[in-house]
Amino acid sequence: MTDSQPSRRARIVVHGATGRMGQAIIRSILGSSRSELACALVRPTSDHVDEPISDEFGMRAPDVDFVSALDPDVVADVLVDFSGVQAFDSALAMAHEHRLAFVSGTTGLSDDQHAALEHAAKTIPVLWASNFSLGVAMLERLARRTAAALADWDCDIVEMHHRRKRDAPSGTALTLGHAVAEGHGVALDDHARYIRHGQTGERPPGEIGFAAVRAGDVVGEHTVIFATDGERLELVHRATSRDIFARGALAAAIWIVGRDPGLYTFDQVLAPKD
Ligand SMILES: NC(=O)c1ccc[n+]([C@@H]2O[C@H](COP(=O)([O-])OP(=O)(O)OC[C@H]3O[C@@H](n4cnc5c(N)ncnc54)[C@H](OP(=O)(O)O)[C@@H]3O)[C@@H](O)[C@H]2O)c1
Repeated sequence: MTDSQPSRRARIVVHGATGRMGQAIIRSILGSSRSELACALVRPTSDHVDEPISDEFGMRAPDVDFVSALDPDVVADVLVDFSGVQAFDSALAMAHEHRLAFVSGTTGLSDDQHAALEHAAKTIPVLWASNFSLGVAMLERLARRTAAALADWDCDIVEMHHRRKRDAPSGTALTLGHAVAEGHGVALDDHARYIRHGQTGERPPGEIGFAAVRAGDVVGEHTVIFATDGERLELVHRATSRDIFARGALAAAIWIVGRDPGLYTFDQVLAPKD
């Protein structure tokens, strides 16, 4: 990670604060000397509204309550959103209205929601990533390079996640698909195959296939398979803890504070490319 940001702590609003990722991010914030929790946002109908966060995170947690709206008096630098597609719009609107930087890892966004990120980036710094893991960022680079070098090999992407995941293929699988397509010098939309069922016919050259497995409590596995006659290369990433995403999202939140409005990528937070 780069270390180019101001010395004072980043004051962070967490949206989706009682979710699996929201909790992991709050734990990361509380464990970091470079950040502090400014506000913990939950859905308006949540049972946790007005509850002190110390009820969830222990007595050493700061004096912050779970709330459903951002108080204008809250002093903050950045809003970090890990919620869902229905809640995403209001998270972005809050960041925009309060002129906070916006970091989001919510996946399954529509084209309109991606367009809204671009629009907001004219006024505030914005960083959305389908995956905040360092290992996946490296996998993306390797997939792009391998696809370029082995352009005539077949390539499929297989992902596996826990049973509660709501979107498929995963945002990370799509990001990897775009990397492979870039390596091939084509657009993913023209070559993606999301479903195979029944009489599929032979695989056309250049197809980029996706398969999604949903089972148990799997945090996240992604395999990019390159195959030709007689040999197969598999690039695999296995996440075993949500904390890796929380650490990456916190690093992105600290990194983005004080930056100019614009649309940033997680790759820019990481060390320079080889
Ligand atoms: N980019 C990455 O690296 C990465 C990694 C992991 C997950 N994700 C994505 O992050 C998102 C969240 O994942 P998760 O596993 O944490 O899901 P989760 O456990 O279901 O958490 C989602 C949270 O959002 C809250 N929420 C729903 N509506 C809200 C609203 N209107 N205002 C405020 N909060 C609201 C939910 O509250 P209730 O509990 O009250 O419904 C819940 O606490 C998903 O899109 C997932 O795919 C991304």
